[in-house]
Amino acid sequence: MTATIVVVGSSNTDMVVKVPRLPGPGETVIGGEFVTAAGGKGANQAVACARAGAQVTLIGRVGDDTLGRSALGGLERVRVNTDYVVSDAEATSGVALILVDDEGENIIAVAPGANMRLTPEDVERARPAIERADCLLLQLETPLDAVGRAVAIAHQAGSLVILNPAPAPAEPVPPAILAGVDVLTPNRAEAEALLSRPVRTVAEASQAAQELCRGGPRRVVITLGREGAVGCAGELVHVPGHRVKAIDAVAAGDAFSAALAVALSEGVDFADACRFANAAGACAVTRLGAQPSTPTRADIEAMLTRQGP
Ligand code: RIB
Repeated sequence: MTATIVVVGSSNTDMVVKVPRLPGPGETVIGGEFVTAAGGKGANQAVACARAGAQVTLIGRVGDDTLGRSALGGLERVRVNTDYVVSDAEATSGVALILVDDEGENIIAVAPGANMRLTPEDVERARPAIERADCLLLQLETPLDAVGRAVAIAHQAGSLVILNPAPAPAEPVPPAILAGVDVLTPNRAEAEALLSRPVRTVAEASQAAQELCRGGPRRVVITLGREGAVGCAGELVHVPGHRVKAIDAVAAGDAFSAALAVALSEGVDFADACRFANAAGACAVTRLGAQPSTPTRADIEAMLTRQGP
């Protein structure tokens, strides 16, 4: 079956500089390669869902400018429906400045522009698409009131709701939103922000997943980079990380959440869906750039069969 997924979220243009190591405050590091790549957590997840085999609609905002048009063109090339992406004449398109070091680690600063002007009314216009979808997938790079409206519509319609709480929220996510979320997919830092305590080891992540489950969402998956992921859906699942050469971890979490959304929408059981998502995340770290690194379905299946967990 082909899963139908609606993504609510951001679209950015990523300006990426490769550096031997990440600079400290006030320090200049001479870097190497510079690339511009399509990014933004929402658009990344929409593209990743489409490449993993789903039919996808994105709800968001871009500026009515060159970067916005280029972002829309990239989404349309992989057949993401952009009917509900507003071209906003009053704002610039989102831009992310990214440094990636030799270990594939990164730091990111985002100028959100039009992304932060997404409104509940924009979401409301897409109500029929949300109600028809198998799954609604969201992140926190757009305003919370728009996120909340989408969650309420999908929850009422009985669709699966997956929230990737990224970037780490500065304010607590309102309980009314969490109550409508079926699956929460934080990384380690985001789990720490949600719980206000460190989450260092796999054992601590397992405890954190159980605790987050009690706070609203029925299922929680914490992504742990090289250590894989820990999922909680009543029972705990630890999926070990794949051994790959890390080039760039940007958008690995996006690939993970998107693949999880596709697998769960297709009716795959939770543990296998976590394995599929874990393989997608591993594929994404082996390539530079956000959307250019999102794997196809064949890439994910090859990672699962060639290397195993
Ligand atoms: O999750 C990765 C994304 O975060 C990048 O593509 C960047 O645009 C920021 O939104």
